[in-house]
Formats: sequence, C-alpha cells, structure tokens
Amino acid sequence: MPERGRSSKVLSVASEIFPLIKTGGLADVTGALPAALAALDVEVRTLVPGYPAVLEGFDGAVAATWAGFFGGPARLLRGSRGSLDLFVLDAPHLYARPGNPYLDASGQDWPDNAERFAALSFAATRIGWGEVDAFVPDVIHGHDWQAALVPAYLEFAGDGRRRPATVLTLHNIAFQGQFPAATFSRLGLPERAFVPHGLEYFGDVGFLKAGILLANAVTTVSPSYAHEIVTPDGGMGMDAMLRWRGDALSGIVNGIDIEVWNPATDPHLAMRFDVDALDARAANRYALEERFGLAPGPGPLVCMISRLTTQKGIDLVVEAVDAIVALGARMAVLGSGDTALEEALLEAASRHPARVAVRIGYDEGLSHLLQGGSDAILVPSRFEPCGLTQLYGLRYGCVPVVSRVGGLADTVIDANLASLAAGVATGVQFADVTVDGVVEAMSRLVELHARPDAWRGLQRSGMGSDVSWTQSARLYADLYRRLVP
Ligand code: ADP
Ligand code: GLC
Repeated sequence: MPERGRSSKVLSVASEIFPLIKTGGLADVTGALPAALAALDVEVRTLVPGYPAVLEGFDGAVAATWAGFFGGPARLLRGSRGSLDLFVLDAPHLYARPGNPYLDASGQDWPDNAERFAALSFAATRIGWGEVDAFVPDVIHGHDWQAALVPAYLEFAGDGRRRPATVLTLHNIAFQGQFPAATFSRLGLPERAFVPHGLEYFGDVGFLKAGILLANAVTTVSPSYAHEIVTPDGGMGMDAMLRWRGDALSGIVNGIDIEVWNPATDPHLAMRFDVDALDARAANRYALEERFGLAPGPGPLVCMISRLTTQKGIDLVVEAVDAIVALGARMAVLGSGDTALEEALLEAASRHPARVAVRIGYDEGLSHLLQGGSDAILVPSRFEPCGLTQLYGLRYGCVPVVSRVGGLADTVIDANLASLAAGVATGVQFADVTVDGVVEAMSRLVELHARPDAWRGLQRSGMGSDVSWTQSARLYADLYRRLVP
C-alpha cells in the first residue's frame, strides 16, 4: 500500500507500445498514457514482449533470469527508451520472430500465441509478487487479452504471496484470446483454475473472459462503448459477465499524445500550421495530391487511415465510392488488412482515376500528412471502442465524419443546426451505418465544405477540443487510488 504522499507504482502490461511496436491504437495509448500519469505522481513502468523491434538498440540491465519459462530461457530486462520506462521480456523462443506481433508472414495467428501472451502475463505476475526489487507495483494494469491472465495467475497461483490490485482495459472485445481446452495444461496454472469462475469458456480457454471476471476493475476506452458492451448486441458474448461486474466496469475515453500529434511542429508535414494559419494546410493538400496522383478540385479531399476490416466499415465505403465521387469529393485511403477489402478498394479506385487513390500499407509519416492536408477524415465503423484517427483529425483541422458508435459518438459533435449556431460543432455524425448512411453523411459534409464560414468554424472548434490525455489520465489515477487507498 502506498503511504500518504508517496507516488503509486503501476506496472502497465501491453503487447504493443508506440513508438517501438504498433499495429493500431493500443500502441498509441500505452505509449502516451505513462507520461500523462507521471504528471499526476503515478509512476508507470511498462512490460512488453522482446520482439526484435523492441530489443533493437535497447540497452537494458538484466533484472531477472528465468529458466524453463514457457519452453525456453527468459530474461527480464529493465531500461528506458525515450521517456518510456520499460521491462522487456526477452524470451527468444517466444518473440524473436520477424514482422507482426500476432501473425506470421502468411497472416495466420502464430500457433503458440496462447503461450506467448500467457508468458507476458506470468512475467507481470512475478513482478507483482515482488520478485524484482527495483519495481514492486501497487497496481498491475493489463491491456486486452494478451495481458488478461494476470488476475488469474494472482488468484490461482499466488500461494499467499503479495497481491497487487489489477485493472484490465478492454480496447476491443472482438479479440478475446480463446484457445482449445488442451492449451490449458501449458499455462502453468493449477487444475482448479479451469472452471467457469476462471479460465473455462464454453469448454475452451478464455483469456479475456478470465480477466473480465477476476480483475479488480475493468475499464474500456469510452463511456459509450462501456454501455454498448453490456448489451447482447454489443457484448460479443461477454455482455452477461460484464453486466455481472456492475460498477467495476467503467469507460474512460482515450486521449492522444499532443506532442507527437501537433500540426505546429509535425516533421511529416509539407507545411506546419495552427488554428490561426489554416490556409497553410493547402500546401499539405498539394503534397497529398502529388503523392496520391489526385487531380485538384473544388470539393473536399476526404481521407481514411485504417485497418481494412469489416469493423471499420470499409465494405460500405467500397460500395459508396461512386456516389461519393458524384458528390464532388475526392478520396485518399491509406490502410492494410483483409486482402478482399484491399482488392475491392483498389478496384473502386481504378474506376475513378485522379479522384480516388488507395495506398495499401502502413506508413506512420503519411498518416500525419493525410491528417494535415485532407479536408476531412471518414470513419464509418460498425463498432469503435474509442477510435483515435478522429481525434488526430480534430487536432489537425481535418473534419471527422463518423458513425455514431462507441468513442466516435463521444468525441465528435455533429454539425446540426443547434450546434452550428452555438459554434460548437466539430464534425458530422451518422447513425445509420449503411451505404446510404455513409453517402448521406458525405453529402452533408460536401454542403458544409461549400460554406467557408461554417467550414472554418468546424475546423476551429475541432482544433479547440481538448483531446489530450489530461482529463482521462486523472480518471485512471483516481481509479488506481481507489484500488490502493
Ligand atoms: P484501431 O486500433 O482499431 O486500429 P484506432 O483509430 O484506435 O483504431 O487506431 C489506429 C491507429 O493506427 C492510429 O494511430 C492510426 O493513425 C494508425 N493507422 C491505422 N492504419 C494505418 C496505416 N495504414 N498507416 C499508418 N497508420 C495507420
Ligand atoms: C482498439 C479499438 C480502437 C481504440 C484502440 C485504442 O484497437 O479498436 O477503437 O481506439 O483500441 O484504445
């Protein structure tokens, strides 16, 4: 227990962290939240797997050595990268593989993902037990299924050892970490953990399920998503358990790193700008037109920066493209994901040369330029726990057009008559997540874009929204302090 006035110590446990390894928004969150918490006297150290991208150039001290750790030797390294204080679990038999943290070169899950991420959780647990003198956490804060077994190890393998409080954050309950029952014997847990109030999930092993039941507190990344996941429609099978957790579940909306995402200093932009120099955005738009091979035009240039999956509504955009072009808009899409969606997007673009362009791939720098040079960003997700690209859009004067779900509903103020008159509108929201819904929203966007005063107003109020971590970090700090008074 921290004494009064002493800072609390939190071990964050994550399978990705920006800028070392990133496949999506989870990395942005785990990379930015520690600094915001440090300002509130919460000391965060993050445990991450020792993938090649993490170990490259990492000069950590050996904090522990564990033989026979999930099938091979492991070392726990302690050090820092930039402002991030890290523990790195160096276990080559689990993590020394090229490419994506979760998938092999052919896009299949690594066959031993259960062991790979059980190992991450177990390493966190041993730190929690106090095995590493240098950092004995009051709270272990795990992110997603990859870190969800921490409360289970503490519960079933603790044998009277010290027990830190646990928080589990759900970034996306579509990913549940469910494995065949035979996996259980390889997790190093006693048989009594394979029960409904433990890891057993419809006869399988459920990582996320165990974490939801056993963590002291469960959070998710927006208040609206917290409401959605306790319903059968949004709960993806977990809703009953989440309802059972009652007040232990809460929604804390994500912020963004306003240093990394700052249009006034961004090195990826052709020209930097701020709210008082919005005309400078034109130079970024020209740069985009050149890079994407788009012809100039009077209508809005609308971007998308996204994993290409059905969650993100990409199939709706494929079908809506002709109508969007007919409205006078142009589109620049950056993304990668499902092969069928990649191909469908490329095919749609080929029908509209110089009006629609698609870049398949992952390009952090180009994602900044898209935010700084496009007029709008389209995020038509079927569900969205929080979503970060609309927040980057707000900060960059790139007006978000979003479906009214999850964190998109919580962070964008729809441009209706009342909000426009009050000068608080920041984007366009649509409730009907269908092709027609997307086209209708785009048609409203095109109309707004044709009204320079209304448009500037939207950009200015978006850029004035507080999208930093300041408020939400305080909510996490309060939560930790409630758990460890
Ligand atoms: P999710 O985590 O569900 O993919 P978020 O909106 O929370 O969605 O976060 C996505 C993050 O990944 C953002 O930082 C976004 O800019 C980035 N991103 C997604 N696709 C790409 C891409 N193809 N190239 C560069 N950045 C991308
Ligand atoms: C997940 C969600 C996304 C959220 C991100 C960070 O990837 O899909 O909505 O913004 O996590 O919390």
